[in-house]
Amino acid sequence: MSSSVLVTGATGRLGQLVTRRLIYSGDRVRVLTRRPDEARRLWGDAVDIAQGDFQDRSSLMTALNGIDRFFLLSPINENLAAHQIALINAAADAGVRHIVKISGSIWTIENSARSRAGAQHRQVEAHLVERGLSHAVIRPNAWMQVSLAPVIAAALAGNDLPARYAGAAVSFIDISDIADVAARTLHAGLNVSEPLVLTGAKAFTSSDIAGLVSAILRRPVGIDPQAVALSPGHDDAFAAQAVREFGALIAEGLAAPVTDTVERVLGRKPVSLRRFLEQQLVPAKRQPEQAEGDIQWQ
Ligand SMILES: NC(=O)c1ccc[n+]([C@@H]2O[C@H](COP(=O)([O-])OP(=O)(O)OC[C@H]3O[C@@H](n4cnc5c(N)ncnc54)[C@H](OP(=O)(O)O)[C@@H]3O)[C@@H](O)[C@H]2O)c1
Repeated sequence: MSSSVLVTGATGRLGQLVTRRLIYSGDRVRVLTRRPDEARRLWGDAVDIAQGDFQDRSSLMTALNGIDRFFLLSPINENLAAHQIALINAAADAGVRHIVKISGSIWTIENSARSRAGAQHRQVEAHLVERGLSHAVIRPNAWMQVSLAPVIAAALAGNDLPARYAGAAVSFIDISDIADVAARTLHAGLNVSEPLVLTGAKAFTSSDIAGLVSAILRRPVGIDPQAVALSPGHDDAFAAQAVREFGALIAEGLAAPVTDTVERVLGRKPVSLRRFLEQQLVPAKRQPEQAEGDIQWQ
């Protein structure tokens, strides 16, 4: 078994996938969480659980004791930079050898004057470089699982799809590709001087997506210009404004460029949007079969 890795954000969307991959690779994994019961429910005794909070340095130092590599993720809020900088400083003091940071999408970092989330991530990236620790920064594009949630919900409800991003194309990335790159980079302790900019293999507009959904469900699917794309709500006003800023930048076409980073790191193509949609739309495809089954049982 390899030496120890500490995962922050391990109970969240991406952290769960990274944790699972590290366990599978034979790493000894410790997770930092405010909710040890949730961590126990997810992994039982396959991980060490360190109860702690980004705001509590002594809990961070306890969690970092004996740790070799460190996965750094925290949610978008006004404390993102302060929390992550505190985590980096604690990791450096604890003698951690390598850090992998989940950062913002490149177009938020490069337009940080218009993206409060990008500005926070940019500050953290600069601090990582200043501290001189071995590290890799991952800048994923918009996640399929988050950005396309309103599209999937509309398709499953039998509706047309909400118009999004003023018709601009986006090279969405599947969260499993991000987790694969993060776990690979962490496992190997790769020191990467340039940020790893992760995108899907192709950019799609809302109309392209409607075409794919239509082909998968074998029914006409259009765009409903009146439908509002309701993203998951944010109680946090900072995060809600950050999401509005993402929408404005994406509508300028800034999330359309494609990179080959996933293929270079993993030796395979990124998960395609078609495959993602096929997986998500399985319940809608099953409905007619289940109805037929019901009739046979009667
Ligand atoms: N969605 C996208 O399209 C996209 C694109 C690029 C980058 N990103 C980046 O991805 C990150 C969000 O990832 P995600 O969606 O996987 O996160 P998430 O599901 O919201 O999970 C947040 C995690 O942070 C932990 N956490 C929050 N506050 C904490 C605190 N004070 N102390 C300790 N742990 C705390 C939570 O753990 P407990 O509750 O268990 O303590 C939870 O595991 C953000 O940095 C965002 O900028 C997202």
